[in-house]
Amino acid sequence: MKKIVLLYWGKGGNVENTAHEVYKMFDSHIIDMFDLVSFDIRTIENYDLMILGHSTIGAENWEDAVADNEWNRFFRKIESKGGCSISAASFGLGDQVLYPDNFVDGLGIYKDEMDKLNISTIGSWPSDGYNFTDSDGEKDGFFYGLALDVDNEPELSEDRIKEWTDKIKKEIGI
Ligand SMILES: Cc1cc2nc3c(=O)[nH]c(=O)nc-3n(C[C@H](O)[C@H](O)[C@H](O)COP(=O)(O)O)c2cc1C
Repeated sequence: MKKIVLLYWGKGGNVENTAHEVYKMFDSHIIDMFDLVSFDIRTIENYDLMILGHSTIGAENWEDAVADNEWNRFFRKIESKGGCSISAASFGLGDQVLYPDNFVDGLGIYKDEMDKLNISTIGSWPSDGYNFTDSDGEKDGFFYGLALDVDNEPELSEDRIKEWTDKIKKEIGI
């Protein structure tokens, strides 16, 4: 049986709420969910796919935001155990109105980390229908994962999550 682990960070805001919405789209027998800090990295090989949920925070001070955050610590832990064999899909939260030049940049930053670690990624998502000027999370008309803007268009999230998780299920054959 295919097993999925959904890991999210941070807690108590939009990312956590959205993680619960994503979790509900899967049969509870095949998915476990943890906030990133509570996850025991030694169990990662029990899963076939990790779904990573994060937000982009820190356009003005990227270097600090990226170097000193829980996702960085997570990827360094994977690196120090010599990589991992499971694949990954991401959803990323951002704000197109306040940060149109950096919309969901995190999707691109974490995609780079996964490429460096040879983690294969699935779940790209078309960038049509969003309003932004630039994003490190997008290439050739596709985001590297699901982009969500619950600050400005919360009414679109449910359908996007449904469609994206259907796509993930198809891609992993469940
Ligand atoms: C200080 C700060 C910086 C942000 N920088 C970006 C950004 O560069 N790009 C973007 O798309 N969204 C940015 N956002 C918007 C957040 O990603 C968005 O509000 C998200 O839903 C927050 O999730 P949370 O409530 O779980 O923290 C920023 C928000 C804050 C507070």
